[in-house]
Amino acid sequence: MKKILVINGPNINMLGIRETSIYGGGTYQDLCDYIKKEAQELQVEVELKQSNYEGEIVTFIQDAYKKVDGIVINPAAYTHYSIAILDALKAVSIPTIEVHLSDIHSREEFRHHSVTAAACVEQISGLGFEGYALALKKIAE
Ligand code: DQA
Repeated sequence: MKKILVINGPNINMLGIRETSIYGGGTYQDLCDYIKKEAQELQVEVELKQSNYEGEIVTFIQDAYKKVDGIVINPAAYTHYSIAILDALKAVSIPTIEVHLSDIHSREEFRHHSVTAAACVEQISGLGFEGYALALKKIAE
């Protein structure tokens, strides 16, 4: 059975409270439950991690080396400036898909560019929770 690590960055644990007109009303717990349900259907094992700290996210990625078949990551705000997360993803070279709940390309200009996408095989943006399911499916295949 394939093992996929799902990492969510800062403020994703605030879903349901933060800017619901952008991110929707579902909570972080709802997101975790949704991902687990999708993983079960796809018959993959998932591990879910969330952190508000850049260094901790780097450690999650390093610890995944040779332990998982793929990573699904929403680096949240770090997407736009974290060279440390980019380097960690490059270091482990685990197939990674970047996911964003909102469509970063149609929001403020500073969100248009992703630093971390350069280490990812694909970016899925603007599909809400479904983006995670799609990413899991792509890695499972
Ligand atoms: C986000 C988009 C980022 O620009 C933002 O900083 C987030 C969430 C998204 O999922 O749409 O925190 O990654």
